[in-house]
Amino acid sequence: MIRAKILGAGSIGNHLAHGARERGWAVTMCDIDPAALARTRDDIYPARYGQFDEAIRLCDPEAVVGEVFDVVIIGTPPDSHVPLALAEMAAQPPRVILIEKPLCEPDLEPCRRLAAAAAEAGVRVLVGYNHRLTEHTCLAAKWLAEYSIGEITTLRAMTREHWGGIFGAHPWLAGPADTYLGFTSRGGGALAEHSHAINIWQYFAELAGLGRISEVMAMLDEVEAQGAAYDRVAQLSVRTDKGLVGTIVQDVVTQPAQKWMRLEGSEGYLEWQVSIDANHDLVRLVRHGAEPLEKRVAKTRPDDFRGEIAHIEEVVKDPSLPSPLDLETGIDTMKVIVAALESSRQGRLVRIDD
Ligand SMILES: NC(=O)c1ccc[n+]([C@@H]2O[C@H](COP(=O)([O-])OP(=O)(O)OC[C@H]3O[C@@H](n4cnc5c(N)ncnc54)[C@H](O)[C@@H]3O)[C@@H](O)[C@H]2O)c1
Repeated sequence: MIRAKILGAGSIGNHLAHGARERGWAVTMCDIDPAALARTRDDIYPARYGQFDEAIRLCDPEAVVGEVFDVVIIGTPPDSHVPLALAEMAAQPPRVILIEKPLCEPDLEPCRRLAAAAAEAGVRVLVGYNHRLTEHTCLAAKWLAEYSIGEITTLRAMTREHWGGIFGAHPWLAGPADTYLGFTSRGGGALAEHSHAINIWQYFAELAGLGRISEVMAMLDEVEAQGAAYDRVAQLSVRTDKGLVGTIVQDVVTQPAQKWMRLEGSEGYLEWQVSIDANHDLVRLVRHGAEPLEKRVAKTRPDDFRGEIAHIEEVVKDPSLPSPLDLETGIDTMKVIVAALESSRQGRLVRIDD
C-alpha cells in the first residue's frame, strides 16, 4: 500500500487526498493551521465527496516528523513549495514528491536549488499540471500521433477564468489580499495561478516535435487593489527554438471560463477544451474536407485528478518511468512565467537561455 503525506489541507489537498484514497493509499494530511484540518473534516471533504473518510489521518506536520512516506504531495501556497520540498528531501526522502503548480514564486533560483537537491537525493519530483493526464488530453495526444493535420502553423492556448470560482471554493477568504492569489510576486495572479495554459501549450508543442519556448513577448495588466497586487490579464506571444509562433492568454476575469487550446495545421486542426459544459471535456480533430473526429469526454471534478494519481502510482512502482509531469517540465513553465513578467515590465522581447 502506498503511504502518502499531503502538506496543505486546503482545496487541492482535499482533491488529491480523495483521489489517493480511491486507489487505496494510506493518506496523512498535514496543515500548520488547525482550522484547515477542522475544515477538511467538517466541511470541504464531506461537501465534495459525501462524507469524511475516517481512514485519513489529519495532523500538524510536526506530528509525523521522522516517518517515512512513499509519496509527499505539496499542496501549499506556491512560495512555500520549494522550501518544503527541500526539507522533505533533507529529512526522510520519499520516492516521489508531487509539487502543485505553479512550481514556485516567479524566480528561477528556487528551481535551480530544487533540481540540484532532487538529483543529489535521488528523489523523483513531479509538478502537478494535472491537465496533461486527463482522459481527453490523452485522446488528443493519440489523435495527434495517428492523424496528420499537415504542417503545424500556430498553436494557441488560454486559461481565462474569473477567480470567483476559486474564492467560492475558499469561503473563509475575504478576497485576493487574504492569500497568495492576490500577489504575482508570491505565485498568484493570472500568469502563475492559471499557468495551465502555458503548460499545455508546451506539452502539445513537445508532442508535435515543435520545440521549447525560447522567446517571449508579453503584456500584463497589473493592478493594485484593496491591499493586493496582481496581474489580472496576461497575454503572451511566444516562439520555440524550432520556429513555431503562438499565443497564450491567461486571466482571472473571464466568466464563464474558457480553457482551450488549438493546434492549427495546413490541412486541419486539433482543438482541446476543458469543461465544454459542466460534465464534459472536448477533443476535436478536423482534416479539411474529411469527416471531423469529435469526442465529448464525460467527466466530474474528481476526474481532473484521477489520471494524475494513477500516474504517480506507476512512478512509485517504477522510478525510471518517463513522466509528462517531470520537474524539468514544471521548470520550463516557470521560465516562461519569469520571462513574461520581465518582458511586460521592461516592454521588450525576452529570450530564454537554458
Ligand atoms: N492543479 C489544480 O487544478 C489546482 C487546484 C487548486 C489549487 N492548486 C494549487 O495548489 C496550491 C494550493 O492551493 P489551494 O487552493 O489548495 O490553497 P489553500 O489555501 O486552500 O490551501 C493551502 C493550505 O496550505 C497550508 N499550509 C501553508 N503552509 C504550510 C506548511 N508549511 N505545511 C503545511 N500546510 C501549510 C495552509 O494553512 C492552507 O490550509 C497552489 O499552488 C495552487 O495553485 C492546483
